[in-house]
Amino acid sequence: MLQKITVIGGGNVGATCAQRAAEKELADVVLVDVVEGMPQGKGLDLCEAAPIEKHDARVVGANDFKPTAGSDVIIVTAGIARKPGMSRDDLIKTNAGIVDSVVKAAAKESPEAVFIIVSNPLDAMCHVALKACGFPPQRVIGMAGVLDSARFRYFIAEALDVSVENCHAFVLGGHGDTMVPLPRLSNVSGVPLPELLPADKIAQLCQRTAQGGAEIVSLLKTGSAFYAPASAAVEMAEAVLKDKKKVLPCAAYLTGQYGYNDLFIGVPVKLGQGGVLDVLEIKLTAEEKAALDKSADAVRGLVKVLGELGF
Ligand code: NAI
Ligand code: 2OP
Repeated sequence: MLQKITVIGGGNVGATCAQRAAEKELADVVLVDVVEGMPQGKGLDLCEAAPIEKHDARVVGANDFKPTAGSDVIIVTAGIARKPGMSRDDLIKTNAGIVDSVVKAAAKESPEAVFIIVSNPLDAMCHVALKACGFPPQRVIGMAGVLDSARFRYFIAEALDVSVENCHAFVLGGHGDTMVPLPRLSNVSGVPLPELLPADKIAQLCQRTAQGGAEIVSLLKTGSAFYAPASAAVEMAEAVLKDKKKVLPCAAYLTGQYGYNDLFIGVPVKLGQGGVLDVLEIKLTAEEKAALDKSADAVRGLVKVLGELGF
């Protein structure tokens, strides 16, 4: 293939990203993990599925970064995942160390790559990654809004018994309990959501969306969601690799947009070759802006913790 994706972390999210990217024939994939043999085994297994799945993408496993050289997109999923009773924020110390080290190593091999960060706590890990790689901020993007809005879209489709393809939704803010689902800007084939469902039902769907990660953790018991997260990260990778200029909610580094400076938070961005091409500033109501401010404060709190930890 002409292009190359590196996926760092060959666990649940990482291996599923490798599978989705290969099956979409987006690029060759290098899967990197610290566990010896595991990424190589998963890579070989995925290649052996290729004749049946009908693609020619190669998936190679590695325990070091040499084979990742020249990657176009690097998806970072390395770290520990949530267990029941843990919040995403509980992961900060361990994952900051891991993200810092893998991003530094990967950036050296692929100085032109776009990073898509998945490891939690997401918005804080984007700050760690940006500092570690030293790339322009447009080339460091966090995956959260695509997942959170896909959950909201699914819940809307289920409530109205319509196709998920007809359901469009935006979730902004940090990837945590303070995320901001925006019913006013959500619609079913162009019909605004508030015209289709009563306010109390919409409030329930927003609440379920904000708790979407915890709902899966409480069911799985041994880890967190990975099928939908991988789909979301690969949708972002595809937008970059194919220069689609796709508008998606992503954690982007803001320099004054929405009134926030020096902060990663989920906003609508245009994604294409080179990463974030633009941040779309939509007019928010006072209530929506207050909710986004609260979410931004929560992210700032984590960035402060990072500072105290030396990141
Ligand atoms: P997992 O535990 O299945 O996989 C993590 C992998 O990272 C493991 O295989 C581990 O060996 C590897 N790893 C650890 N240190 C490493 C290093 N230094 N270099 C390379 N690999 C290393 O976890 P899962 O479910 O794949 O989740 C990964 C991360 O993604 C977690 O932090 C989780 O919270 C986060 N996540 C974020 C989402 C989002 O919306 N942003 C959604 C889902 C998960
Ligand atoms: C999720 O939302 C755990 O952040 C992860 O599923």
